[in-house]
Amino acid sequence: MTTFQRQFVYISTIAALISGVLYIGLRTFAEPADPWAIVNHPLEPWALKAHILTAPIMLFAVGLITAQHIIRSLRSSLPTGRQSGLIMTVLFGPLALTGYLLQTVISPLVTSILSWTHLGLGLICAVALAIHWRVLQSRRLKRRPGALPVLRLPSEESDQADDHPRSPEVT
Ligand code: HEM
Ligand code: HEM
Repeated sequence: MTTFQRQFVYISTIAALISGVLYIGLRTFAEPADPWAIVNHPLEPWALKAHILTAPIMLFAVGLITAQHIIRSLRSSLPTGRQSGLIMTVLFGPLALTGYLLQTVISPLVTSILSWTHLGLGLICAVALAIHWRVLQSRRLKRRPGALPVLRLPSEESDQADDHPRSPEVT
C-alpha cells in the first residue's frame, strides 16, 4: 500500500464520519429557532451535502486498495490486523449499500431502519479502522516482521523506508 493510498483511506473515512455524524446529530438533537423551519439547524443541509460528497470518495479509497491490500491480506495467513480488517471487509459493502438505498426508499419505517443501520455500520467500520491503525502501529513500534510485501512507487522508496521495515519472511 502506498503512502497516498493509506492517507486517502484515513482522510476520506474521517470526512465521511464527521459529516455523517454531524448531519444525524443536528437532525436529531438540534432545536429549530423557528417552529416552522424545515431544518433543525442551518448547518444540517450542508452536513448532508458534505456527506454525499465525501462518502463516494471513501468508497473510491477503499476500492483503490481492494485488490492489492484487502484481497491479498485475506489470502495471506498473516494474523496482524486480521480481525479489524475482516470486520471492515464484511461491513463495508452493507455500509455503502444502505447509504444508497436510503436515497431510493419512501417508506418512513424502512428509511428509519436503513438510517440507523447505516449509522451503526459506519461507526463500527470507523472504529475497526482505528483499531487496524493501532494494531499496525504497535507492530511497527515493536519492529516485528509480518507485513505483506509493500508495493511502492520508486519515488516513495526513500520516504517510506522507516515506515515499513521489510520482512525477511514474506513470500
Ligand atoms: C476494508 C478492509 C481494509 C481496510 C480499509 C484496510 C486498511 C488498511 C490501512 C489504511 C493500512 C495502513 C496502516 C498504517 O500503517 O497506517 C493497512 C495496513 C495493513 N492491513 Fe489492512 N485494511 C483492510 C483489510 C485488511 C485485512 C482483511 C487484513 C488481514 C487479513 C489486513 C492486514 C493489514 C496489514 C498486515 C497491514 C500492514 C501492512 C501493510 O501496510 O500492507 N487489512 N490496512
Ligand atoms: C464513516 C462512515 C459513515 C457514517 C458514520 C455515515 C453516516 C451517515 C448518516 C448518519 C447518514 C444520514 C442517514 C439518514 O438520512 O437518516 C448517512 C447518509 C448517507 N450515507 Fe453515509 N455514513 C458513512 C459512510 C458512507 C459510505 C461509505 C457511503 C457510500 C459510499 C455513504 C452513503 C450515504 C448516502 C448515499 C446517504 C444518504 C444521503 C441522503 O439522505 O440523501 N455513507 N450516512
